[in-house]
Amino acid sequence: MTTSPRVFVGFVLAAGLWFLSSSATAGTPDLPKDSYKKAAEADLAFLKQRLTELAKIEAAKEKVKDSQAKPAIGISMLLAVYADALGDGALRTDALKVAEAVIAKDYKGALELAKKMTVKPANATGKGDLPKLASFEKDKVKYLEHAMTLFRNKTILETPGGLHIQQDIRDLIRKDEPAKLDPAQVEILAVRAAVITEYATHYPNAKVKGKKDWEKWSKESVDFSKQITAEAAKGAKADEKKLRELLFNLNKRCNDCHFTYRDDE
Ligand code: HEC
Repeated sequence: MTTSPRVFVGFVLAAGLWFLSSSATAGTPDLPKDSYKKAAEADLAFLKQRLTELAKIEAAKEKVKDSQAKPAIGISMLLAVYADALGDGALRTDALKVAEAVIAKDYKGALELAKKMTVKPANATGKGDLPKLASFEKDKVKYLEHAMTLFRNKTILETPGGLHIQQDIRDLIRKDEPAKLDPAQVEILAVRAAVITEYATHYPNAKVKGKKDWEKWSKESVDFSKQITAEAAKGAKADEKKLRELLFNLNKRCNDCHFTYRDDE
């Protein structure tokens, strides 16, 4: 369906859905291409590992739980975003196909496709819109759930269910004996966090009714993640104190939003 943007924005404003009206031009976070490339390589590896495990569970004739499949779908959404920023059309298309295959519980098919995927940045970039999944368009809050689940720490078989981001951030900002900071790892963590919270910006949950704070917390999360990416990308020259401060601020936005809008905490 195509609706003219002006009509769409008018409708949205009339409905008081402020968060959509301000996202008409927004989308893929503006991050250095090189950082996107590193995240794409790391997350393609994560996807393959994850799908290998799901296929193993399936081959053992056990039931794959939703919580086990969700990160594979979420990581494919992220890969499609990175691919768009990198101008890698094939990766974008295949990442969305993998997500749909996992949604359809075809883990073997998803794994076979994922094994053929590679990261090949082009000079141009894509359209900059967040990629959509046909299966999620009816119930859009699914984008949020599948993105957020990547922050989780829990382990499924040998691989973490999510990307262990929530715990990594907490370890890095701990007052007593904070974890050692590796800029290369923090750079990838921040690219992932930027894209995940960008999805949050566009897809609030049902509890949000015209409240400005959702937009504030999600946009500031994207913003801090961008600043963290830029600083961490300096590698050995990155300012560690600054990075920990930025991570502290990011963590605060996570908590602020969860306190108000998350059901299960
Ligand atoms: C703008 C609001 C908002 C921000 C910002 C936000 N979250 Fe969330 N988060 C949510 C909501 C809402 C849920 C519940 C989603 C659901 O499952 O329906 C959630 C769920 C989660 C979950 C559980 C996922 C699961 O599978 O059960 C984790 C972990 C999480 N968030 C971590 C983070 C971290 C870490 C940050 C910051 C880097 C963050 N979130 C930022 C709103 C937010």
